[in-house]
Amino acid sequence: MRKLPQGLKLGVATAAYQIEGAWNFADKTPNIWDTLCHNNPESISDGTNADDACKSFEFYKRDIDMLKFVGVDFYRFSISWPRLLPNGFANKISEIGYEYYNNFINELLANNIEPVITMYHWDLPQNLQDLGGWANPLIADWFGDYARVLYKLFGDRVKMWVTINEPKQIGLMGYGMTRMAPALNATGIGEYLTAKNIVMAHARSWHIYNEEFRDTQKGVCGITIATDFREGVTDSPEDLEAGLDAIEFEVGLYSHPIFSSKGGFPERVIKRVGARSAEQGYPNSRLPEFTPEEIEYVKGTSDFYGFNHYSSKFYTRSAYKPGTYAIPSYDDDIGADFTYLDYEKGAVPHVTVIPHGIRKALTWVKDNCNNPPIFITENGFGTFGGLKDATRISYYRRYLDSILDAIEQDGCNVVSYTAWSLIDNFEWSSGLSIKFGLFEVDFDDENRKRTARASALWYKKLISTRMLDSNDDDIPELVEHIF
Ligand code: NOJ
Repeated sequence: MRKLPQGLKLGVATAAYQIEGAWNFADKTPNIWDTLCHNNPESISDGTNADDACKSFEFYKRDIDMLKFVGVDFYRFSISWPRLLPNGFANKISEIGYEYYNNFINELLANNIEPVITMYHWDLPQNLQDLGGWANPLIADWFGDYARVLYKLFGDRVKMWVTINEPKQIGLMGYGMTRMAPALNATGIGEYLTAKNIVMAHARSWHIYNEEFRDTQKGVCGITIATDFREGVTDSPEDLEAGLDAIEFEVGLYSHPIFSSKGGFPERVIKRVGARSAEQGYPNSRLPEFTPEEIEYVKGTSDFYGFNHYSSKFYTRSAYKPGTYAIPSYDDDIGADFTYLDYEKGAVPHVTVIPHGIRKALTWVKDNCNNPPIFITENGFGTFGGLKDATRISYYRRYLDSILDAIEQDGCNVVSYTAWSLIDNFEWSSGLSIKFGLFEVDFDDENRKRTARASALWYKKLISTRMLDSNDDDIPELVEHIF
């Protein structure tokens, strides 16, 4: 048994598109995922979409009942930008969108659950995508305007703001690949344009909070970065270098401009993309530059480090052949291949179970990001279903154990922990087939019956006792709790 640190806050998370449904209710306009799922259903492994998802827009009070049942300190959820601002721009606020989120926040507070709001969890209004989306530098203005609306409407009651969730997944998978909306497949270009614009948009929204709202609202505002760990497969100098390059491309690209003392993109990324771009005949690096003013504008613009973590990857340079790629490619820019080694697999590779990786990632943040307060905004395990989810409980146990090592032995300043997810939901390109919920959702039932898994009961006990029990054989007895 290990005692959790005093004051460590425990919560759960979801995101709007993954749970709400009501995709075209009232004046809500389509987002980029509505478009992708409707026009290219083959992009989703089981052909599903989130038109209805968990119907949380309709059944949100049942979600709150579950939160109460588990006893969480806070709930991290996201606002659907096109539900609140149907034009994408801040010229029109939807009455219905406003009422929905307003009631939701009030209901959480009435139940003593702190609202933690993510402003952007991947569901860009389609009309802004038509104007270039995150590849258009003007998005810093559009996002800033949206953020100001949120602070004005809800900031009297909401004290924790996450601006943007996982920039890498937005830029790499959405613009560099086809795995996520808007599926542009502009590898070697899209990742970098969006990286700069996302960082600038985040900084804009932070400055707006800082200058116009902080004094009266007294909350905090920060970004959430996917911080899965990357390192060399072996200790050979080549592999070590490959690992260091990989973490700078995959994490540093977003954290360095905001959290480092120097600011701007990481040196390793600047060098590698610059050299490869020159080889390929580009007059300038494919990685955009920050001007000196922009570097200063962005530095220090996060009150905390929002930390999402699921697994780790191991890199090697051996299969890499320099200069063989005439067309640009993000993988070629990193110049290394990865493996998950032989660690225990989950239902999707990105939850391969490597508990000690979370400790390494936390200390990486401490050492490379000026020892910020760390809010673990996501951690969780995906399965193919089942109520007796021993593997999920074991994952949570082992990862939490490693987090406690990072806190107690490495001095990482971890303030909160968030389990992903409260309920099964639409897992992006895996559709409804992969289950991350503490509660199972019956997607064949019109009323979307929700049933507590063993992990919900386990997490409930962790929250009430604040003691981590490391015995993997100890699974809570599955008493039926239906919501
Ligand atoms: C991170 C994302 O923020 C979330 O939306 C997703 O469902 C989880 N990873 C699990 O893959």
